[in-house]
Amino acid sequence: KNPQGAPDPKLAIKVQKVGVVGAGLMASQFALLFLRRLQVPVVITDVSQERVDKGLAYCRAELDKLVEKGRLSVDDRNRYSANLSGTLDMNDFADCDWVIEAVFEELKVKHDVFTRVEAVVRPDAILATNTSSLSVDEIGKVLKHPERLVGFHFFNPVAVMPLLEVVKAAKSNDVSVATAMRVANDLKKTAVITSDSTGFVVNRLLGYLLGEAMKAVDEGIPFEEVADAIAPLGLPMNPFDLLELVGLQVGAHVLDSMYGFAPERFYKTDSLHQLAKLGRIRTKDSKGNKTGYDPEAIKIVSGRTRT
Ligand code: 3HC
Repeated sequence: KNPQGAPDPKLAIKVQKVGVVGAGLMASQFALLFLRRLQVPVVITDVSQERVDKGLAYCRAELDKLVEKGRLSVDDRNRYSANLSGTLDMNDFADCDWVIEAVFEELKVKHDVFTRVEAVVRPDAILATNTSSLSVDEIGKVLKHPERLVGFHFFNPVAVMPLLEVVKAAKSNDVSVATAMRVANDLKKTAVITSDSTGFVVNRLLGYLLGEAMKAVDEGIPFEEVADAIAPLGLPMNPFDLLELVGLQVGAHVLDSMYGFAPERFYKTDSLHQLAKLGRIRTKDSKGNKTGYDPEAIKIVSGRTRT
């Protein structure tokens, strides 16, 4: 079903090759999904060969795991693997008709990426950003053709979460949005079209939940108590596990953006930045099972702003 506000699906272009800028956790996860669901060549790039190799290795290891689980044939694994390539040369993106980035959440970095991408791709290529809280129109300011840029916001873990936010910025045209909806559909995701407002829809809501959880620990309530209190709501994860899942630095950026957008409505938490530097909230055993909360993390938050 075409959601309300979606342009005519016939306007969508058929994507024949995908370019992914960034080979981090999020980008590698969706590169894998493009390989499996769109079944087209996917090329990934990043700032160093080491990062590119790490992204490629992640995709190949996940394909191997699917074969081991009996969910993918060896032939399909080999086909998808052959469709995957990594490069440091942006010219390898020249024949991509869908290029999506998931690089560091800083406007300057995104501007640099899209300037370099637009210099090589065809005039009809569609560009997408997986930004979680920057303005898509702001990101598109450096483009000669900002009408071909849309937001395409995945959720972690990409393979499992059904939702995708397709962000229709003020300048996005119908061809770009229709193509994004078609890609979302081919990925078997449920897409909603959102406007280009800070945090779109999901991170506005999550911003409250995560912000309030951080506020509670900043006020001296122990991590366990906050986690236990929220458990009866039946959320699949407590806020601290969710912060670790999305990445503490990403979480801190989202909360900063929401606070910048509406300081009277969102909570700014310096301690989350410190937790991001520490790199963890939870302690884990040798098998990776969560065992408790890290003593250093407890020190960072304890009683910061007790009222
Ligand atoms: N990659 C691939 N598959 C994964 C995965 C991962 N990282 N994590 C879990 N899965 C798969 C498992 O393989 C399993 O698949 P199967 O049933 O086919 O075997 C399935 O997911 C369920 O996994 P588990 O049984 O291990 O664990 P749970 O039932 O506890 O589910 C979870 C794990 C899906 C992560 C669940 O806890 C969950 O939904 N958590 C909330 C996640 C969430 O809210 N994400 C949104 C974050 S916001 C965001 O990303 C936006 C950004 O801008 C901040």
